[in-house]
Amino acid sequence: MKRKHNPVARISPIKIFCHQIFLSGLEGKLLIDIGSGPTIYQFFSACESSQEIIATDYTDKNLQELEKWLKKMPGAFNWSPVVKYVDKWAEKEERVRRAIRRVLKCDVLKERPLEPVVLPASAGLISLCLEAACPTPQACRDALRYLRTLLRPGGHLVLSGSFETTFFMVGGKRFPALPLNEKFPREALQEAGFIIKKLEKVARAAETHLDNHSDYTGLFFLVAQRGD
Ligand SMILES: C[S@@+](CC[C@H](N)C(=O)[O-])C[C@H]1O[C@@H](n2cnc3c(N)ncnc32)[C@H](O)[C@@H]1O
Repeated sequence: MKRKHNPVARISPIKIFCHQIFLSGLEGKLLIDIGSGPTIYQFFSACESSQEIIATDYTDKNLQELEKWLKKMPGAFNWSPVVKYVDKWAEKEERVRRAIRRVLKCDVLKERPLEPVVLPASAGLISLCLEAACPTPQACRDALRYLRTLLRPGGHLVLSGSFETTFFMVGGKRFPALPLNEKFPREALQEAGFIIKKLEKVARAAETHLDNHSDYTGLFFLVAQRGD
């Protein structure tokens, strides 16, 4: 039986985690989201503590979608059904729009992921894209080292991802993913020069097991600090 993909089932734990993290004092002027996709839900909590947010992605299509939403252009995605649980959604939407200062091309497989743009070192990075972006575990370890250079010393990385994912579907199109085991995030972050401050793992919600948009077995959410 095919089930309709419910985005809220996947987004909720991420949203709750981001909310806890950003409300627990992860503050700083500049926050960069790495691999934003066309989505904006991740900015609802972040805009409480960061005055300036930079959204990034690898694909031009995703960057265009974000620009469309930012500029309220015709055909922009309507996020209200997905984020209806956010208090005072309409006010928040405007706040997020004001906070997002730039939408930039990014490639985490490059030593300088935002090249040719050079930004001041940021207080924080958020990311949910590594399993989609990295073809091998080594590429993923390298990407974490490259991302570290975007952070100021002592800055924080809020990283989320999934375990054992081999594919995910977007709009009927199948994308490959790098299956990460449960040890990987901790080992790879330590090797890349981060100190893990908080790590939560969530088993896949039972109600999503029949949903065939992806084969992940669980999700992880962590906060790590640049270790110098
Ligand atoms: C699973 S989606 C996650 C999107 C969004 N962060 C979210 O939370 O829903 C993975 C994203 O990684 C982006 N991506 C793929 N390869 C990348 C790369 N080499 N560098 C940066 N982002 C990449 C994709 O375009 C996609 O938007």
